[in-house]
Amino acid sequence: MKMKKMGILNIVLLFATINVALSVQDGLLPNGNFEQGPKASQMKGTKVTDPHAIPHWEISGYVEYIRSGQTQGDMLLPVPEGAFAVRLGEDASIKTRVTNVTSGSFYSLSFNFARTCAQEEKLNVSVSPNTEPNDWGMLPMQTMYSSDGWDSYSWGFLAQANEIEITLHNPAVEKDPACGPLIDFIALKALKNPHRQRGNMLKNGNFEEGPYIFPNTSWGVLIPPNIEDDHSPLPGWMIESLKAVKYIDAEHFTVPEGKRAIELVAGRESAIAQIVRTQKGKVYDLMFSVGDASNSCQGSMLIEAFAGKITLRVPYESAGKGGFKRAKLRFTAVTERTRVRFLSTYYHMKNDHSGSLCGPVVDDMRLVGVRHP
Ligand SMILES: *[C@@H]1O[C@H](CO)[C@@H](O)[C@H](O)[C@H]1NC(C)=O
Ligand SMILES: *[C@@H]1O[C@H](CO)[C@@H](O)[C@H](O)[C@H]1NC(C)=O
Ligand SMILES: *[C@@H]1O[C@H](CO)[C@@H](O)[C@H](O)[C@H]1NC(C)=O
Repeated sequence: MKMKKMGILNIVLLFATINVALSVQDGLLPNGNFEQGPKASQMKGTKVTDPHAIPHWEISGYVEYIRSGQTQGDMLLPVPEGAFAVRLGEDASIKTRVTNVTSGSFYSLSFNFARTCAQEEKLNVSVSPNTEPNDWGMLPMQTMYSSDGWDSYSWGFLAQANEIEITLHNPAVEKDPACGPLIDFIALKALKNPHRQRGNMLKNGNFEEGPYIFPNTSWGVLIPPNIEDDHSPLPGWMIESLKAVKYIDAEHFTVPEGKRAIELVAGRESAIAQIVRTQKGKVYDLMFSVGDASNSCQGSMLIEAFAGKITLRVPYESAGKGGFKRAKLRFTAVTERTRVRFLSTYYHMKNDHSGSLCGPVVDDMRLVGVRHP
């Protein structure tokens, strides 16, 4: 009995150590909030003129250093936290070196951005060294999802060295140099390999593992579209179709279970999916929670859950005040691999006059084999 207890204690301690080792580097990159800035002599107006003027960063092209409260035309440029942010003009980039990642580990990068023009803005996020073709992300920043003017994006990658360089580049589709996103708060998080928990065939079914969410921001983190599972900032899951999904935290939203959940913010244009090994002819239950994030997202919602070709539509009446219900899809597997998939049938908009998109929340997904159907 005593021996057994010791064993358990050791395992607990071991996990505690691993968590500490992983979490040390979770958080802001050095000067990732740009609070250390250029000297007056390294700027012309707001434009930074020296490529090494911002500590820990190397810039190129038209980069502006923006102080909180600064205006452009008659528009106030919002800076979410602290006093400063950078703006990447046409063809501008910022680059930083991270010296203590682990080669072969997965990471997710999160950053805050605000659009400054009506045009579609994009950001090319890349990490070097990397040997994989096309291993960069073109993140679309066309839609507003938060009411604050700021959103956060995440991007997943595999570190291929212990020392890497991270670049954010505005390839500029627009021709106005005053356009281009404001960027602030760039953070890194080591992602744990998703594993299946007992009694659940899905990996990361409760979404507890995912990108870094800034503790001081209240708008969650977007996970960009077209993400394959091996590079997903949401371990175990793919983001299909054209638009992002939102990763939300219990500190700022209502989530059905644990500390994290997914808000389906883009109607049928975004879906999350996972492929599971199944046994042909066997019966399974896919169970999940559908709710709302308590973020003024009201209305009649409908979630579609798919298991292979079987569909379940789950209506949810949202008062925008939080709450959830459980749903169950029973299906017989017809192949050795079954794709489970979730999307929101409709678009929804917050009723706070911000015009920002929102949607139903899904969480706590379980897939189990049914022994005596
Ligand atoms: C990684 O390096 C940064 C500074 O470059 C430091 O702030 C951070 O604590 C380091 N993390 C680890 C795990 O050594
Ligand atoms: C994005 O950046 C990477 C790395 O610099 C580059 O190889 C790639 O061509 C860029 N993609 C686009 C569409 O500009
Ligand atoms: C978050 O806000 C608190 C209180 O305003 C502040 O002390 C803390 O430094 C902030 N954290 C970050 C990462 O900026």
